[in-house]
Amino acid sequence: MRAAVISQLGRPPEPADRTEPAVLADHVVVDVLAAPITPLDLLCAGGTSYFGAPATPYVPGVQGIGTVGERTVWFPTSAGMAAGDGSMAEKALVRQEDLVFLPDDVPPYAMGALGLSAVAAHMALTWRGELEQGECLIVLGCGAVGQAAIQLARIAGAGRVVAATRSGRSRERALRAGADAVIDLATDDLAAQFREAAPDADLLLDPLFGPPAAAAAEALRPGGRWVNLGSSAGETCPVTSATLRSRSLRLSGYTNNELSPQQRAEAISTVAHLAAHGRLSVDHEVVPLAEVADAWQRQSGGTSHGRMVLAPARS
Ligand SMILES: NC(=O)c1ccc[n+]([C@@H]2O[C@H](COP(=O)([O-])OP(=O)(O)OC[C@H]3O[C@@H](n4cnc5c(N)ncnc54)[C@H](OP(=O)(O)O)[C@@H]3O)[C@@H](O)[C@H]2O)c1
Repeated sequence: MRAAVISQLGRPPEPADRTEPAVLADHVVVDVLAAPITPLDLLCAGGTSYFGAPATPYVPGVQGIGTVGERTVWFPTSAGMAAGDGSMAEKALVRQEDLVFLPDDVPPYAMGALGLSAVAAHMALTWRGELEQGECLIVLGCGAVGQAAIQLARIAGAGRVVAATRSGRSRERALRAGADAVIDLATDDLAAQFREAAPDADLLLDPLFGPPAAAAAEALRPGGRWVNLGSSAGETCPVTSATLRSRSLRLSGYTNNELSPQQRAEAISTVAHLAAHGRLSVDHEVVPLAEVADAWQRQSGGTSHGRMVLAPARS
């Protein structure tokens, strides 16, 4: 079969022939329709993730959409985090218990682009973040997580949603997703901008960390919640002790890896139903497997038009 293969860590995958997976007990072989290139795939393939450096060669792709017989499924893999191949191939071996069966009318590429990014947005908002109707929310960044978070917050009945982005393209995405206001992260005195646009915010959804998160935290109300789920703007964050303690802020981390299989399946089902009804989507580009090296570089370089989604069944 054709697959995207990482032969050297830190280098993009190349299309290559790979032996089809053999069926194992309690596993199924999925015919892959869509495999997104996500920040986690890039991180693992760089060899510097906290999972350790993966053995090469391997097929990346921690999730995908495919078919098993007549049914459309979402599936996870542990590619790059543990031994074994992932979703960026014509076929993938998946543990039976990890399959999530999707509604027949779910658009496969759009659902592939949403995947675990939308799961993270949904669970960080509702489960970790405890978002309530009418609350004021700040969402940092407007990649896949940010776009999903803004739409999901609107669906959940958030009162005011303030986004913050560093580029005009992301600003436009945030407005399209339903943000009431968008702050430019390049602006001077960012904390004052957040305080003005989102006074006494209840919840900060933070995939960026770094200086943007420290500035946004200044707008939180006493007892406000700050959920960090990524570090796109920095591994460290210059927040002061006074900011945290003067208003008794609650800072929590979130990772999809802590979800039980049942929680993850329920979140995927929620996302899939919204996607099937046209209520949830993130910008994405669909490319054939043969173009994986270029797609990978565009995703990592930030020049793609949203999430790159590989379509192994397309030539
Ligand atoms: N904890 C979890 O379970 C979980 C799950 C999914 C994702 N994540 C993490 O969440 C983060 C976002 O994921 P994603 O899927 O939304 O990624 P994405 O689609 O690649 O989007 C990344 C976003 O971050 C922005 N950004 C990147 N570098 C920045 C910087 N230096 N300053 C300000 N903004 C910056 C980008 O802005 P532009 O649009 O202007 O380029 C873009 O909006 C990643 O760190 C990812 O690893 C965590």
